[in-house]
Amino acid sequence: MAQRQENQVPSKTQRYDRLISEIGLVLEGEPHRVARMATIACLLHEAFADRIWTGFYLVDETKKDQLVVGPYQGSLGCLRIDFSRGVCGAAATRGQTIIVENVHDFPGHIACDSRSVSEIVVPVWDPSGRLIAVLDIDSDKPAQFDREDQQALERLVKNIFAKA
Ligand code: SME
Repeated sequence: MAQRQENQVPSKTQRYDRLISEIGLVLEGEPHRVARMATIACLLHEAFADRIWTGFYLVDETKKDQLVVGPYQGSLGCLRIDFSRGVCGAAATRGQTIIVENVHDFPGHIACDSRSVSEIVVPVWDPSGRLIAVLDIDSDKPAQFDREDQQALERLVKNIFAKA
C-alpha cells in the first residue's frame, strides 16, 4: 500500500504545495522584491511543462496607469501594458485573478508570443493592500489553468508579498 502511494503521480495541488514550501525556504530572509519575483518566476516556470512565459508585470510608480515588465522566464515579453489593455490590464484593474482558456476568445488579449493559447493572471498586493504587480503565466496549450492554479498562486503571492 505504502509502495503504491509512493508511485502515485502527485496532484497539481500537491505539486504546488511542495513548490510553495520550496519557494518559502529559498526566500527566507530575502526581502528584496526583485529577488523574490525572479525566484518565483524561475521555480514556477521550471516546475510545469507547457509554460511559455512566467513572470511579473509591475505597477509603474511613475505611470500608474501602466504595467511594466518585471522578472520573468520564457520568450520576450512586451515591455509595457496599459491598465486598459490585455488580460494583465484587466486583472490589475479588477483586482481579480483572470483565467483564460483560449486567448483568442478574450477581447484585447495581447499576444507577446503568438504561441500563447491559455493564460492566468493573478494580482499581487503588498502588506498595505496596494496593488504592486500581476503574476502572468502563459501556455501554448488550451485550458491549462483552473481553480487549482488560481488558489495555489493566490496563496503563493499572498504568502510572499502581502505579509508584513
Ligand atoms: N498576454 C498578456 C500580455 C503579456 S504576455 O503574454 C507575456 C495580456 O494579454 O495581458
